[in-house]
Amino acid sequence: MSGNVFGSIFRVMTFGESHGPYIGMVIDGLQPGLAINVDEIQQELDRRRPGQSNLVTPRQETDRAEIVSGIFEGKTTGTPLCILIRNQDQRSLDYRNLKDLLRPGHASFTYLQKYGIFDYRGGGRASGRETATRVAAGAVAKQLLKQRDIHIFAYTKQIGDVVIDSVDFAEIEKNPVRSPDARAASKMAAAISQAQQQGDSLGGVIEIVVKNCPAGLGEPVFNKLDADLSQALMSIGAVKAFEVGGGFSAAHHTGSNFNDLFYYDSQSKKFHTQTNQAGGILGGISNGEDLVMRIAVKPPSSISKKQNTVDFSGKPAELEIKGRHDPCICPRVVPVAEAMVALVLIDHLLMQERISSLNDLENIRNKVDTIDTQIMLLYAQRRKLVGEIARIKKDKQLPVLDKTRETEKENKMQEMARELQIPSKLTTDLFHFILQDSYNIQEEIIQ
Ligand SMILES: Cc1cc2nc3c(=O)[nH]c(=O)nc-3n(C[C@H](O)[C@H](O)[C@H](O)COP(=O)(O)O)c2cc1C
Repeated sequence: MSGNVFGSIFRVMTFGESHGPYIGMVIDGLQPGLAINVDEIQQELDRRRPGQSNLVTPRQETDRAEIVSGIFEGKTTGTPLCILIRNQDQRSLDYRNLKDLLRPGHASFTYLQKYGIFDYRGGGRASGRETATRVAAGAVAKQLLKQRDIHIFAYTKQIGDVVIDSVDFAEIEKNPVRSPDARAASKMAAAISQAQQQGDSLGGVIEIVVKNCPAGLGEPVFNKLDADLSQALMSIGAVKAFEVGGGFSAAHHTGSNFNDLFYYDSQSKKFHTQTNQAGGILGGISNGEDLVMRIAVKPPSSISKKQNTVDFSGKPAELEIKGRHDPCICPRVVPVAEAMVALVLIDHLLMQERISSLNDLENIRNKVDTIDTQIMLLYAQRRKLVGEIARIKKDKQLPVLDKTRETEKENKMQEMARELQIPSKLTTDLFHFILQDSYNIQEEIIQ
């Protein structure tokens, strides 16, 4: 089963299933010596874990991050960073009566079509539990982004028919639905409770904003930043749509009012746009504005309301789900969405840093090449002058060797070498090499 690895430089592999002993992840490609706060990884996992409020599943999973490798005394070692999370509160019996039934909205049907086998106890790799490993990896990525002053905020924008009117980032973690609008948050909570009482569930929209994303992230053509963000966010279970900036509203606009007009900010000495319909991405490359994107999250399929279905023999059946499920997963998808965005951004950032350092390398190499050419030109000139000296010495019948002058010259060169911090041995070798070449030129002319 492939498709479990994400990223090209900051590479993450996740593994494990909801009803096995552990789930986990490995990050490969981390530089050594990066400061990583393990408590912050745990805080992110706590934001996603079940049982945080009565609006999400009451399953009790502590989701403790067990660091297996890759971090020593708060710093990356450069070896694969592996984190395990133990599965704790699985109740496999909850699933036994579903074993022979096709569950509407669930991945069990397609997994069976694909593999011919499926662990009916929970969702296996399709379970929301799998996303804990993404959050652990994303927490590492987030810290590296924070060190570069890049910050990601995700929040619930809509649940059912309730839509936010305002955005206050400070409000997000203060209410159980993770809404940036306190008033909308209580209406959302009421709507979720009502759906739950009716044995049903609700979907919603999550918005993700990235502050201080530098311009230049994104690769032509297939790894455009928006293409990679879309892939990352659409890979979260239950996400049904992705849009960036103006998104689907683009259909209602004309070019003249959809275009983001540029201006030059003389204070920051940067170009900006007056509006942000582009969502911070032009031509697949970040333009320095906030990244703004949204995902639509479907109402969870596991509902206690009776549903009609069929069993594996095709016989009609009634399905009544008894497990402990989320009536709305938006509040729990918020940290998962942030994690996936963080993974995409850190990967693109590392890619861009490689390009920049490649540019630096190219520049320096050009300078070295110029110096080498100058050395060759000067050396050719020197050889010519040595030839002229040889002709004068021949005319005046002077000896080729002049020990006093040579010793004086070598001393002067060593003195210079000390000032310029050139190793003494190298200076001696260089001087003797040049001297030998001069002798050869003179001997040839004089004889
Ligand atoms: C954090 C999280 C928690 C989830 N919890 C549930 C749940 O309790 N019940 C459920 O039916 N689906 C839940 N899901 C959604 C399923 O994983 C998803 O709907 C299923 O795999 C089918 O995939 P699809 O909806 O993308 O087609 C959860 C998803 C996430 C990301």
